[in-house]
Amino acid sequence: MESPRHVAVIMDGNGRWAQKRLLPRSAGHSAGMKRMIALSEYLFRRGVKVVTLYALSKENLSRSEEELSALFTLFRTYFSGSISRLADGGIRLDVIGETELLPEDIQTLIQEGKERTAKGEKGTLVLAICYGGRQDIVRAANAAVRMGKEVTEEEFASLLSTGAYPPPDLLIRTGKEKRLSNFLLFESAYAELYFSDKMFPAFTDADMERALLDYASRDRRYGKIKADKS
Ligand code: IPE
Ligand code: IPE
Ligand code: MG
Repeated sequence: MESPRHVAVIMDGNGRWAQKRLLPRSAGHSAGMKRMIALSEYLFRRGVKVVTLYALSKENLSRSEEELSALFTLFRTYFSGSISRLADGGIRLDVIGETELLPEDIQTLIQEGKERTAKGEKGTLVLAICYGGRQDIVRAANAAVRMGKEVTEEEFASLLSTGAYPPPDLLIRTGKEKRLSNFLLFESAYAELYFSDKMFPAFTDADMERALLDYASRDRRYGKIKADKS
């Protein structure tokens, strides 16, 4: 079965998952984080090299202080508790997005996490935090302008915050909505899209397996008549 090299996930539905169970939204984020850890480990076991997870959009920063504070507490827990596991598993951590908007202690934890996992060669976990695809494209365009010359498509792609990685092969969104919500806009031009009605905390390893099976059955044509399987 053909595995995608790069899987990106829009982890949506935490709040609704909690509300349905009469729990606070923060309980949904907490359950979502547990699922996020297990699913990323599952994907690396399946041979995926890059896993990019949408944890917080730039637009999410307009949510209530209460919700953001719960999310920041979870980020602290994650970055102080899960880095050793990543390092032991040979997984490098990268974080994309406007992280300068985060509380300073979280920025420090992110920096430490990146340094402690820098030697990982098995795969890369990319967390998108305070991330926005349009903002990233504008930032890259401004960087190109500063270079003082016109850039090619490849050069432009390399200026994006995901510039070091191949574009996503499979982009999954949980939580029933069918939109990109400002995620990897440039990079997803030829990603295979997969939508699940399940809320993220309820999206199991078996659901991920189904998404991978579905991906393996796709015919990626890139505008050609027949996929080149050579
Ligand atoms: C996704 O879950 C996680 C974040 C955006 C931080 P939501 O919080 O958007 O959950 P729903 O969509 O309201 O259920
Ligand atoms: C997208 O979910 C962002 C993340 C999952 C981090 P949202 O819940 O913010 O998206 P919209 O508002 O439904 O488009
Ligand atoms: Mg949502």
